[in-house]
Amino acid sequence: MNLDKKLDILPLTKTNPKTLEALFGKKDITPMWVADMEFEMDASIQNALINRISNSGFGYEYKPKSFYKAQKDWYKKQYQVDLNQEHTFYSPSITTTISIIIENFTSEKDRIIIQPPVFMEFRDVIRNTKRRITKNALKFEKGVYQIDFEDLEEKAKLENNKILILCNPHNPVGRVWKKEELKKIINICKENNLILISDEIHKDIVLFENKFTSLLQFENSWDKVIVCTSEAKTFNIPGICDAMAIIPNEEIRNSVKATFKKYNLGRTNALTRVALETAYTKSDSWLKNLINTIENNVNLIEEELKKSNSKIKLIKPEGTYQVWLNFNDVFQDTKVMFHHVTENSGIGMNAGHWFGREGALFMRMNIATTKEKVQFAIKKIINSVL
Ligand SMILES: Cc1ncc(COP(=O)(O)O)c(C=O)c1O
Repeated sequence: MNLDKKLDILPLTKTNPKTLEALFGKKDITPMWVADMEFEMDASIQNALINRISNSGFGYEYKPKSFYKAQKDWYKKQYQVDLNQEHTFYSPSITTTISIIIENFTSEKDRIIIQPPVFMEFRDVIRNTKRRITKNALKFEKGVYQIDFEDLEEKAKLENNKILILCNPHNPVGRVWKKEELKKIINICKENNLILISDEIHKDIVLFENKFTSLLQFENSWDKVIVCTSEAKTFNIPGICDAMAIIPNEEIRNSVKATFKKYNLGRTNALTRVALETAYTKSDSWLKNLINTIENNVNLIEEELKKSNSKIKLIKPEGTYQVWLNFNDVFQDTKVMFHHVTENSGIGMNAGHWFGREGALFMRMNIATTKEKVQFAIKKIINSVL
């Protein structure tokens, strides 16, 4: 794996001076916020893309049989899921699909349940579709995040709560929900006829001894499950990747299909097809290497915090390539924390409260970068609060 090969010379959101100014109040900051990677992509994907670009034009494309076979084999091997091609839709983004489901299956008086602190675009999508948010906030007990099942059961019973959006693995807290936890969620949704949207975009970055379970494994228990996913995070291709929605329920599927037809949404992109087909068939060992690198970066942060006796606590991630740092023992006010740490460390991280007020006094750092950069950043962060 070729690390940190000056990817930031590209027009990346992460390093856009205007964005840095807007988010952090200055341009000269080391950006470790947006969730994409600083590793060069797998050489086999890169070569396949170069080959595709060199050898042809870019007419209208479709996904051939070889693509679906590669994808089916990958889903079977990686997640023990029998991917049904008829249930699978390609969408410009995960949030596009979530908006469509919300608009087609709820009305403006309805509410959508989310589990903050959580990926902020869930909140944005609910607001943009003019629905209301019901919070089933995660519980943070003894350094571990848990689902508050009692609260979820109560909220699921309320008439206006129509959809639950689950994030598995959870961004930003890094939990990879266990099978038993997922079973409980399925049961609650089934008992209360809730549509369950499972955002599984971080599914391949599962660390240490943890195991990811896709909700597609439960489609026989509750079929009003919609899995929204893509391999954009896994292979660092969000700039060229289609997102997917896998919809076992026929009524939901037909409704989504009609909307996709209405807005002509399902068109694919030649580079996506090439990148994914190559990734599914050739990028196994690259992915193993990536996970190993992320685990080493997590360990490094843990050691640095310990060594320096820092009051900052690491919530050790089970998945994703982000770490969630707890500043509760250092600050009392989350905005003061954000300003102080940003100014004094020079590291641009996501403030926890961007993920909902439940994330106050935490910060999220992207660690999909070199060991040297992670070490540099964590030392700066530790020193910023001494
Ligand atoms: C949980 C989660 N879902 C979705 C996305 C983005 O997906 P898309 O660009 O397909 O909407 C991200 C990106 O960070 C994410 O963390």
